[in-house]
Amino acid sequence: MRIDIISIFPEYFAPLEISLLGKARRAGILDTRVHDLRGWTHDRHNTVDDTPYGGGPGMVMKPGPWGEALDAVAPAPAAPRLVVPTPSGRPFTQSTAAELASEPWLLFACGRYEGIDSRVMAEARGRMPVDEVSLGDFVLAGGEVAVLVMIEAISRLLPGVLGNAASVSDDSFAPGAMESLLEGPVYTKPPVWRDRAVPEVLLSGNHGAIARWRRDEALRRTARHRPELLERLDPAALDARDREV
Ligand code: ADE
Repeated sequence: MRIDIISIFPEYFAPLEISLLGKARRAGILDTRVHDLRGWTHDRHNTVDDTPYGGGPGMVMKPGPWGEALDAVAPAPAAPRLVVPTPSGRPFTQSTAAELASEPWLLFACGRYEGIDSRVMAEARGRMPVDEVSLGDFVLAGGEVAVLVMIEAISRLLPGVLGNAASVSDDSFAPGAMESLLEGPVYTKPPVWRDRAVPEVLLSGNHGAIARWRRDEALRRTARHRPELLERLDPAALDARDREV
């Protein structure tokens, strides 16, 4: 998968070199290219922002540099999927990550300040799919950290990135059995640590009982932390035991 990123802070993307993402890059699964928006400015101060029309606080990113940057990184008829992090976008969820993971080419545009002049995305929509997405109901100082989050969530779904593909299907929110459920607690050796024992069922070797226990814990944790998610569970997918939990 090719991933281009346009930002005024290319240094934010140093983590693409390490851990899972770095390995995916070295394996040729990810081809990430970071571009400095200021490279498409033409004044002495490399200005990327200006005051908002209509007044109000803060600054807005100018359309000129963004238009030139998009033209240069994705010259027509090339059409990557353009992803723009913004608190006013649609929610980014596990299914958004899966959807984006099936694309051959993503282009992330990192806004700062009060955002990017709206004409930039209106024009881009004329020649490529554009997704404005939000990580949640909070406001970050800019899109860079949001893009790192999304790239990590997307990349771990690409074939060959995780050592064990099964760990993806056991995740919270994974399509299938874990859809709308939070993953329950996990344990490793030793069996007793500071007088706390690992739940016995996990040592039993009884795979049916272990699966049942994990599902019960997932249901309990979801009820405690995210009760609204339980409403979304398909009643047909619930069994009698689920209802007791
Ligand atoms: N940029 C600023 N805040 C954001 C958020 N909550 N999600 C995605 N991008 C953002």
